[in-house]
Amino acid sequence: MKCIRDPKAFQREMERLRLRGKAIGFVPTMGALHEGHLSLVRAARKENDVVAVSLFVNPLQFGPTEDFKKYPRPARSDRRKLRGARTDYLFAPDPRGMYPEGSATTVDAGSLAKVLCGRSRPGHFRAVATVVAKLFHLAKPHRAYFGAKDYQQALVIRRLVKDLDFDLECRVMPVVREADGLAMSSRNRYLDPGERRRAAVIPGTLLWVHGEFARGKRDLGRIRREAVARLRAQVSAVDYFEIADPETLEPLKKAGAQMQVLTACFMGKTRLIDNVRINLRPTARISVKAG
Ligand code: PAJ
Repeated sequence: MKCIRDPKAFQREMERLRLRGKAIGFVPTMGALHEGHLSLVRAARKENDVVAVSLFVNPLQFGPTEDFKKYPRPARSDRRKLRGARTDYLFAPDPRGMYPEGSATTVDAGSLAKVLCGRSRPGHFRAVATVVAKLFHLAKPHRAYFGAKDYQQALVIRRLVKDLDFDLECRVMPVVREADGLAMSSRNRYLDPGERRRAAVIPGTLLWVHGEFARGKRDLGRIRREAVARLRAQVSAVDYFEIADPETLEPLKKAGAQMQVLTACFMGKTRLIDNVRINLRPTARISVKAG
């Protein structure tokens, strides 16, 4: 695995590979890697000739009261995990390399960036869209990999790719979970044992909502109220809980064929997010012809 810190050196290397006809798979991360991240690296490995991973804790996407300073940075174990997943290039710039003095241009991600996490974290998705646009220009990937755990982020990035004509395919991979259902996250390590145990209520509640729809229930108001009550019994605060249109993230008033259930909860000071897709479309019948 080749480690590169300088953005221009990384860009030159990727350009060289592109000219040699290599398909480049790219996985942007902030490190503190777990199986969720590694599932993206493995998908990239399967579908491309070359795998590049970026590791950059982007200061701009953290709010003033958020955890930028204490965000975990286990550099050695991250490198070991990336080598284990057969990463070819690790791009690990420092903030000054990414944002030299005077840099001023940002990417406004539009209306998708203003709801849910965007409402609680003003400027967050602008910072994400900006850094991802920069990373795409540096990595020049054919395919870029994101996790459905950060569902809103994945939508914002898909929008960015379409609107700014990035010539790449955006692949969104399933949420990887712990044994009790909790979505893997670099932030789970902030939880004390009691918080960690109680955090299982988050996937548990999403599963319960999924079950309610499977049992034929369609009263969104009641499902929503009951879900929030279930969460509140275990978490410190429910930041949001929404049953939304999977494309626009607008809250739904009536059950639709496709719904995205999304939540953000505080467990102590730690903010955890999760989501699940509900699909009410009848599954296609398989007809078997005799003869
Ligand atoms: P980070 O939180 O490190 O996540 C990097 C990628 O891993 C994201 O696409 C995220 O959705 C994915 N991921 C995290 N946990 C996952 C899980 N349990 N299952 C599946 N995928 C998971 O997201 C960011 O970094 C940053 O915002 C970034 C895109 C790198 C821009 O700075």
